Amino acid sequence: MNTRRKRFRIGFLFLPILFMLNGCLAGFEMEEFVPNTMDVPKAYSELSIRGINVGNALDAPEPGQWGVMIDPEYFHVIKQAGFNAVRLPVRFSAHTGGNPSYIIDKDFFAMVNDLINHGLNAGLIVILDLHHFDEVMNEPIDYEEKLLAMWDQISRVYSAYPDNLYYEILNEPSRELTRDRWNDLAARVISVIRKNDTHRKIIVDSVDFSNINTIQTLTLPEKRNLIVTFHYYEPFEFTHQGADWVRGSNQWLGNIWIGTAEEKKQIENELNQAAEWSNRNQIPVLMGEFGTIEKADRASRIRWTEFLAREAEKRQISWVYWQFCSNFSLYSCDTRKWDETLLGALIPKNTSK
Ligand code: BGC
Repeated sequence: MNTRRKRFRIGFLFLPILFMLNGCLAGFEMEEFVPNTMDVPKAYSELSIRGINVGNALDAPEPGQWGVMIDPEYFHVIKQAGFNAVRLPVRFSAHTGGNPSYIIDKDFFAMVNDLINHGLNAGLIVILDLHHFDEVMNEPIDYEEKLLAMWDQISRVYSAYPDNLYYEILNEPSRELTRDRWNDLAARVISVIRKNDTHRKIIVDSVDFSNINTIQTLTLPEKRNLIVTFHYYEPFEFTHQGADWVRGSNQWLGNIWIGTAEEKKQIENELNQAAEWSNRNQIPVLMGEFGTIEKADRASRIRWTEFLAREAEKRQISWVYWQFCSNFSLYSCDTRKWDETLLGALIPKNTSK
């Protein structure tokens, strides 16, 4: 894990007028991608996101605790490299007061807000992702109101923001947040947001840790401005070998990904299903996380990453790589250099501008 610590540059006044001003300043360009010609199912989409997660930063229990502090300059570096979006995982749930209003801590919110503004002003789509709210997964009945209260506050603050700020209501719903419970809760969160913010793009994760195979269990209250997201880390024994948060994963060390017909078929079939669902339901799909741990064989990582990105694009599935500069990283926040080969696997040079 990266250990460099950078201070946030806050310089921020918490006033609605600034939100609006920043909204106006945030320029926005969409990159042109290579048109897809392959005979594969296409997702319903006007989106073409090529993004990167700036993770292990604001999603840590305390900012910096997992080694990443976000320097606003990173957003320019990301834009320059050819990405058009960043996903900002944020552990809002660790920074609120108690019930019933669960007020988000002013200083923490200011820090997040400052980074959102920098991301937008760099010309990126910013996906504000409510991440690692483990309590609601374990005890949904006790924590649902907190999720609703957090989204009420967030969506009031950003209702006047430009359209290239998106909300992701909850990362990886799982455990006790079962399918029916998640469908019910997601609908309630969307309704709270819509009272404050009628048009914003809202991203909804599929249940069972944003599983690609549970997309079809989602029942969404509306289609307009919704995006469904899944995370893709298959084969898990390859992408998560030696991950210290996955019990038993040391025995997977040394697993490689060759890209045999059989290995590719599994990925193609699953992406086909996601694209078909999207097309049938007329809702765009986003592969909101995918990536490989640094401990995995480098040549395999490059093959897998390139295959996933191109196969998603062929199907009009937008993607956001996991992640920027920590443990699955693409960039070194110490040396301030990209892993050019891995970057080229995601964004081939001739398609980045
Ligand atoms: C988690 C990270 C983890 C990644 C890959 C993310 O959703 O928040 O902590 O590194 O998935 O497992």
